[in-house]
Amino acid sequence: MAGLAHKDVLRADQFSKDEVALIMKLAGEYEAALLQGKRLNVMEGKILSTLFYEPSTRTRLSFEAAMLRLGGTVVSVAEAKSSSASKGESLHDTIKTVEGYADVIVLRHPQIGSAEEAAKATDKPVVNAGDGAGQHPTQSLLDFYTIQKEKGTVEDQTIVLAGDLKNGRTAHSLALLLASYHVKFIFVAPKALQMPREIIDRLKAARIDVQETEDLADGLRTGDVLYMTRIQKERFEDPAEYERLKDSFVLTRKHLDQAKEGLTVMHPLPRVNEIAEEMDDYSGAAYFRQAANGVPVRMALLALVTGRA
Ligand code: NCD
Repeated sequence: MAGLAHKDVLRADQFSKDEVALIMKLAGEYEAALLQGKRLNVMEGKILSTLFYEPSTRTRLSFEAAMLRLGGTVVSVAEAKSSSASKGESLHDTIKTVEGYADVIVLRHPQIGSAEEAAKATDKPVVNAGDGAGQHPTQSLLDFYTIQKEKGTVEDQTIVLAGDLKNGRTAHSLALLLASYHVKFIFVAPKALQMPREIIDRLKAARIDVQETEDLADGLRTGDVLYMTRIQKERFEDPAEYERLKDSFVLTRKHLDQAKEGLTVMHPLPRVNEIAEEMDDYSGAAYFRQAANGVPVRMALLALVTGRA
Protein backbone atom coordinates (compact mmCIF):
# COMPACT_ATOMS: atom_id res chain seq x y z
CA MET A 1 0.00 0.00 0.00
CA ALA A 2 1.29 3.41 -0.88
CA GLY A 3 1.70 6.25 1.49
CA LEU A 4 -0.39 8.29 -0.93
CA ALA A 5 -3.89 7.63 0.41
CA HIS A 6 -5.62 10.87 1.43
CA LYS A 7 -2.52 12.89 0.57
CA ASP A 8 -2.39 16.05 -1.49
CA VAL A 9 -0.32 16.21 -4.67
CA LEU A 10 1.29 19.65 -4.56
CA ARG A 11 4.90 19.37 -5.74
CA ALA A 12 6.96 16.98 -7.83
CA ASP A 13 9.61 16.79 -5.11
CA GLN A 14 7.18 15.43 -2.53
CA PHE A 15 7.34 11.90 -3.94
CA SER A 16 9.67 9.16 -2.73
CA LYS A 17 11.14 6.90 -5.39
CA ASP A 18 8.92 4.08 -4.09
CA GLU A 19 5.85 6.24 -4.59
CA VAL A 20 6.91 7.14 -8.13
CA ALA A 21 7.52 3.45 -8.89
CA LEU A 22 4.08 2.56 -7.55
CA ILE A 23 2.35 5.26 -9.63
CA MET A 24 4.24 4.08 -12.74
CA LYS A 25 3.34 0.44 -12.14
CA LEU A 26 -0.32 1.17 -11.56
CA ALA A 27 -0.43 3.48 -14.59
CA GLY A 28 1.03 0.66 -16.69
CA GLU A 29 -1.68 -1.69 -15.45
CA TYR A 30 -4.41 0.82 -16.20
CA GLU A 31 -3.00 1.50 -19.64
CA ALA A 32 -3.06 -2.25 -20.39
CA ALA A 33 -6.64 -2.48 -19.10
CA LEU A 34 -7.68 0.43 -21.33
CA LEU A 35 -6.05 -1.20 -24.35
CA GLN A 36 -7.97 -4.38 -23.63
CA GLY A 37 -11.18 -2.36 -23.44
CA LYS A 38 -11.83 -3.45 -19.84
CA ARG A 39 -14.44 -1.58 -17.81
CA LEU A 40 -13.10 -0.52 -14.42
CA ASN A 41 -15.11 0.43 -11.36
CA VAL A 42 -12.29 1.40 -8.98
CA MET A 43 -13.74 4.89 -8.41
CA GLU A 44 -17.40 3.96 -8.37
CA GLY A 45 -19.32 6.30 -6.08
CA LYS A 46 -16.53 8.87 -6.01
CA ILE A 47 -16.74 12.39 -7.41
CA LEU A 48 -13.87 14.44 -8.79
CA SER A 49 -14.12 18.22 -8.96
CA THR A 50 -11.93 20.09 -11.43
CA LEU A 51 -11.44 23.79 -10.76
CA PHE A 52 -9.48 25.56 -13.48
CA TYR A 53 -8.72 29.28 -13.15
CA GLU A 54 -6.37 29.13 -16.17
CA PRO A 55 -6.88 27.66 -19.65
CA SER A 56 -6.39 23.93 -20.10
CA THR A 57 -7.16 21.24 -22.64
CA ARG A 58 -5.02 18.21 -21.83
CA THR A 59 -4.76 18.45 -18.07
CA ARG A 60 -8.45 18.96 -17.37
CA LEU A 61 -9.74 16.56 -20.00
CA SER A 62 -7.27 13.81 -19.10
CA PHE A 63 -8.14 14.10 -15.40
CA GLU A 64 -11.82 13.92 -16.24
CA ALA A 65 -11.32 11.05 -18.70
CA ALA A 66 -9.24 9.25 -16.05
CA MET A 67 -12.02 9.57 -13.49
CA LEU A 68 -14.68 8.40 -15.95
CA ARG A 69 -12.50 5.47 -17.10
CA LEU A 70 -12.33 4.36 -13.46
CA GLY A 71 -16.10 4.44 -13.11
CA GLY A 72 -16.21 7.68 -11.11
CA THR A 73 -18.00 10.92 -11.91
CA VAL A 74 -16.91 14.51 -12.41
CA VAL A 75 -18.27 17.92 -11.50
CA SER A 76 -16.33 20.61 -13.21
CA VAL A 77 -16.00 24.37 -13.39
CA ALA A 78 -14.26 24.82 -16.72
CA GLU A 79 -14.00 28.57 -16.42
CA ALA A 80 -13.45 28.96 -12.71
CA LYS A 81 -12.81 32.67 -13.23
CA SER A 82 -16.46 33.02 -14.18
CA SER A 83 -17.52 31.16 -11.02
CA SER A 84 -18.03 32.87 -7.67
CA ALA A 85 -14.41 34.03 -7.81
CA SER A 86 -15.67 36.74 -10.16
CA LYS A 87 -17.96 37.89 -7.35
CA GLY A 88 -15.01 38.18 -5.02
CA GLU A 89 -15.06 34.81 -3.29
CA SER A 90 -11.70 33.74 -1.84
CA LEU A 91 -10.01 30.52 -2.93
CA HIS A 92 -10.38 29.30 0.66
CA ASP A 93 -14.16 29.69 0.59
CA THR A 94 -14.47 28.11 -2.85
CA ILE A 95 -12.52 25.07 -1.67
CA LYS A 96 -14.57 24.84 1.56
CA THR A 97 -17.66 24.72 -0.64
CA VAL A 98 -16.35 22.25 -3.20
CA GLU A 99 -15.21 19.84 -0.47
CA GLY A 100 -18.87 19.38 0.31
CA TYR A 101 -19.50 18.16 -3.25
CA ALA A 102 -16.47 16.07 -4.16
CA ASP A 103 -14.00 13.46 -2.87
CA VAL A 104 -10.95 14.86 -4.64
CA ILE A 105 -10.22 18.33 -6.01
CA VAL A 106 -7.96 19.13 -8.97
CA LEU A 107 -6.98 22.81 -9.06
CA ARG A 108 -5.24 25.01 -11.62
CA HIS A 109 -4.68 28.58 -10.51
CA PRO A 110 -2.43 31.45 -11.66
CA GLN A 111 -0.84 32.05 -8.27
CA ILE A 112 2.28 30.23 -7.07
CA GLY A 113 1.42 28.43 -3.83
CA SER A 114 -2.33 28.39 -4.53
CA ALA A 115 -2.52 24.58 -4.34
CA GLU A 116 -0.85 24.63 -0.90
CA GLU A 117 -3.34 27.27 0.18
CA ALA A 118 -6.25 25.17 -1.09
CA ALA A 119 -4.90 22.05 0.61
CA LYS A 120 -4.90 23.87 3.95
CA ALA A 121 -8.60 24.64 3.54
CA THR A 122 -9.74 21.02 3.25
CA ASP A 123 -9.00 17.47 4.38
CA LYS A 124 -9.99 16.15 0.95
CA PRO A 125 -7.04 15.45 -1.36
CA VAL A 126 -6.07 18.47 -3.48
CA VAL A 127 -4.11 17.90 -6.68
CA ASN A 128 -2.07 20.77 -8.10
CA ALA A 129 -2.73 20.95 -11.84
CA GLY A 130 -0.46 23.99 -12.21
CA ASP A 131 0.07 26.88 -9.80
CA GLY A 132 1.13 29.81 -11.95
CA ALA A 133 4.84 29.68 -12.74
CA GLY A 134 5.35 27.29 -9.82
CA GLN A 135 4.88 23.58 -10.36
CA HIS A 136 2.87 21.03 -12.31
CA PRO A 137 3.58 17.75 -10.52
CA THR A 138 1.12 15.50 -12.36
CA GLN A 139 2.58 16.59 -15.71
CA SER A 140 6.02 15.56 -14.47
CA LEU A 141 4.67 12.13 -13.53
CA LEU A 142 3.29 11.62 -17.03
CA ASP A 143 6.57 12.93 -18.44
CA PHE A 144 8.42 10.38 -16.31
CA TYR A 145 6.09 7.64 -17.55
CA THR A 146 6.68 8.77 -21.13
CA ILE A 147 10.48 8.74 -20.80
CA GLN A 148 10.30 5.23 -19.31
CA LYS A 149 8.08 4.05 -22.13
CA GLU A 150 10.07 5.66 -24.91
CA LYS A 151 13.54 4.91 -23.53
CA GLY A 152 13.01 1.89 -21.25
CA THR A 153 14.27 3.81 -18.21
CA VAL A 154 15.00 7.33 -17.00
CA GLU A 155 18.35 6.17 -15.61
CA ASP A 156 21.47 7.48 -17.35
CA GLN A 157 19.50 9.64 -19.77
CA THR A 158 20.69 13.07 -20.81
CA ILE A 159 17.60 15.26 -20.65
CA VAL A 160 17.59 18.56 -22.50
CA LEU A 161 15.01 21.07 -21.27
CA ALA A 162 14.63 23.94 -23.72
CA GLY A 163 12.59 27.14 -23.87
CA ASP A 164 11.08 29.16 -21.04
CA LEU A 165 12.70 27.48 -18.06
CA LYS A 166 12.08 30.49 -15.83
CA ASN A 167 8.30 30.46 -16.06
CA GLY A 168 7.64 26.93 -17.27
CA ARG A 169 6.13 24.98 -14.40
CA THR A 170 6.38 21.68 -16.28
CA ALA A 171 10.16 22.16 -16.58
CA HIS A 172 10.45 22.97 -12.86
CA SER A 173 8.53 19.89 -11.81
CA LEU A 174 10.28 17.52 -14.21
CA ALA A 175 13.73 18.69 -13.10
CA LEU A 176 12.82 18.22 -9.44
CA LEU A 177 11.17 14.84 -9.99
CA LEU A 178 14.23 13.51 -11.82
CA ALA A 179 16.63 14.83 -9.17
CA SER A 180 16.41 11.50 -7.32
CA TYR A 181 17.59 9.53 -10.37
CA HIS A 182 20.86 9.21 -12.24
CA VAL A 183 20.25 11.67 -15.07
CA LYS A 184 22.17 14.50 -16.69
CA PHE A 185 20.52 17.82 -17.53
CA ILE A 186 21.25 20.33 -20.25
CA PHE A 187 19.18 23.48 -19.80
CA VAL A 188 18.79 25.52 -22.99
CA ALA A 189 17.25 28.97 -22.50
CA PRO A 190 17.82 32.58 -23.42
CA LYS A 191 19.55 34.48 -20.59
CA ALA A 192 16.28 36.08 -19.47
CA LEU A 193 14.46 32.75 -19.20
CA GLN A 194 16.91 30.51 -17.37
CA MET A 195 15.97 27.86 -14.84
CA PRO A 196 15.49 29.45 -11.38
CA ARG A 197 18.68 29.36 -9.27
CA GLU A 198 16.84 27.65 -6.46
CA ILE A 199 16.15 24.64 -8.67
CA ILE A 200 19.71 24.53 -10.04
CA ASP A 201 21.02 24.60 -6.46
CA ARG A 202 18.72 21.73 -5.48
CA LEU A 203 19.94 19.67 -8.44
CA LYS A 204 23.57 20.38 -7.62
CA ALA A 205 22.98 19.41 -3.99
CA ALA A 206 21.63 16.12 -5.34
CA ARG A 207 24.89 15.75 -7.35
CA ILE A 208 23.12 16.01 -10.70
CA ASP A 209 25.27 17.06 -13.63
CA VAL A 210 23.74 20.31 -14.95
CA GLN A 211 24.90 22.25 -17.98
CA GLU A 212 23.39 25.61 -18.94
CA THR A 213 23.55 27.04 -22.45
CA GLU A 214 21.76 29.41 -24.79
CA ASP A 215 22.43 27.23 -27.83
CA LEU A 216 20.09 24.38 -28.74
CA ALA A 217 22.91 22.68 -30.68
CA ASP A 218 24.77 22.08 -27.39
CA GLY A 219 21.82 20.06 -26.19
CA LEU A 220 21.24 18.18 -29.42
CA ARG A 221 24.76 16.75 -29.60
CA THR A 222 24.46 14.56 -26.51
CA GLY A 223 20.78 14.70 -25.51
CA ASP A 224 18.71 11.51 -25.36
CA VAL A 225 15.46 13.37 -24.67
CA LEU A 226 14.68 16.88 -25.87
CA TYR A 227 11.86 18.45 -23.86
CA MET A 228 10.71 21.62 -25.62
CA THR A 229 8.55 24.18 -23.79
CA ARG A 230 6.40 27.12 -24.82
CA ILE A 231 7.52 30.66 -24.03
CA GLN A 232 4.93 31.46 -21.33
CA LYS A 233 3.36 34.60 -22.80
CA GLU A 234 0.92 35.00 -19.91
CA ARG A 235 3.78 35.42 -17.41
CA PHE A 236 5.40 38.39 -19.20
CA GLU A 237 4.86 41.90 -17.87
CA ASP A 238 6.30 43.48 -21.00
CA PRO A 239 4.71 42.36 -24.31
CA ALA A 240 7.77 43.64 -26.22
CA GLU A 241 9.99 41.29 -24.21
CA TYR A 242 7.71 38.40 -25.16
CA GLU A 243 7.90 39.40 -28.83
CA ARG A 244 11.70 39.46 -28.57
CA LEU A 245 11.90 35.98 -27.04
CA LYS A 246 8.92 34.10 -28.45
CA ASP A 247 10.76 32.35 -31.25
CA SER A 248 13.98 31.67 -29.36
CA PHE A 249 13.95 28.01 -30.41
CA VAL A 250 12.06 26.45 -33.28
CA LEU A 251 12.83 22.76 -33.77
CA THR A 252 12.86 21.62 -37.39
CA ARG A 253 13.85 18.45 -39.26
CA LYS A 254 17.21 20.08 -40.00
CA HIS A 255 18.11 19.95 -36.31
CA LEU A 256 17.97 16.15 -36.41
CA ASP A 257 21.21 16.16 -38.42
CA GLN A 258 22.99 17.58 -35.38
CA ALA A 259 21.17 15.31 -32.91
CA LYS A 260 22.09 12.02 -31.34
CA GLU A 261 20.55 9.00 -33.10
CA GLY A 262 17.16 8.09 -31.67
CA LEU A 263 16.46 11.46 -30.05
CA THR A 264 13.09 11.51 -28.28
CA VAL A 265 11.25 14.82 -28.63
CA MET A 266 8.75 15.76 -25.93
CA HIS A 267 6.60 18.83 -25.26
CA PRO A 268 3.88 19.27 -22.62
CA LEU A 269 1.81 21.08 -25.27
CA PRO A 270 0.29 23.39 -26.37
CA ARG A 271 3.03 24.22 -28.85
CA VAL A 272 2.97 27.62 -30.46
CA ASN A 273 5.99 27.69 -32.71
CA GLU A 274 8.58 25.61 -30.82
CA ILE A 275 8.29 22.48 -32.94
CA ALA A 276 7.66 22.69 -36.68
CA GLU A 277 4.77 20.52 -37.86
CA GLU A 278 7.18 18.73 -40.19
CA MET A 279 8.57 17.07 -37.03
CA ASP A 280 5.32 15.26 -36.30
CA ASP A 281 6.01 12.21 -38.46
CA TYR A 282 9.52 11.75 -37.03
CA SER A 283 9.44 8.42 -35.13
CA GLY A 284 10.98 10.01 -32.03
CA ALA A 285 8.34 12.75 -31.85
CA ALA A 286 6.61 11.59 -28.67
CA TYR A 287 4.51 14.63 -27.72
CA PHE A 288 1.10 13.30 -28.69
CA ARG A 289 1.87 9.92 -27.12
CA GLN A 290 2.99 11.90 -24.06
CA ALA A 291 -0.37 13.72 -23.94
CA ALA A 292 -2.23 10.40 -24.16
CA ASN A 293 -0.18 9.02 -21.26
CA GLY A 294 -1.87 11.62 -19.07
CA VAL A 295 -4.93 9.38 -18.76
CA PRO A 296 -3.41 6.21 -17.22
CA VAL A 297 -1.03 8.22 -15.02
CA ARG A 298 -3.88 10.37 -13.68
CA MET A 299 -6.02 7.26 -13.21
CA ALA A 300 -3.28 5.88 -10.98
CA LEU A 301 -2.98 9.10 -9.01
CA LEU A 302 -6.72 9.48 -8.47
CA ALA A 303 -7.07 5.87 -7.31
CA LEU A 304 -4.12 6.21 -4.93
CA VAL A 305 -5.01 9.54 -3.29
CA THR A 306 -8.59 8.44 -2.69
CA GLY A 307 -7.39 5.20 -1.12
CA ARG A 308 -9.03 3.04 -3.77
CA ALA A 309 -5.73 1.48 -4.89
C1 NCD B 1 1.47 23.18 -19.69
C2 NCD B 1 1.00 24.05 -18.56
O1 NCD B 1 -0.18 24.36 -18.45
O2 NCD B 1 1.85 24.38 -17.74
N1 NCD B 1 0.46 22.53 -20.37
C3 NCD B 1 0.01 21.33 -19.88
O3 NCD B 1 -0.47 21.24 -18.78
N2 NCD B 1 0.17 20.26 -20.67
C4 NCD B 1 2.45 23.83 -20.58
C5 NCD B 1 2.14 25.17 -21.16
O4 NCD B 1 1.06 25.72 -21.00
O5 NCD B 1 3.03 25.70 -21.84
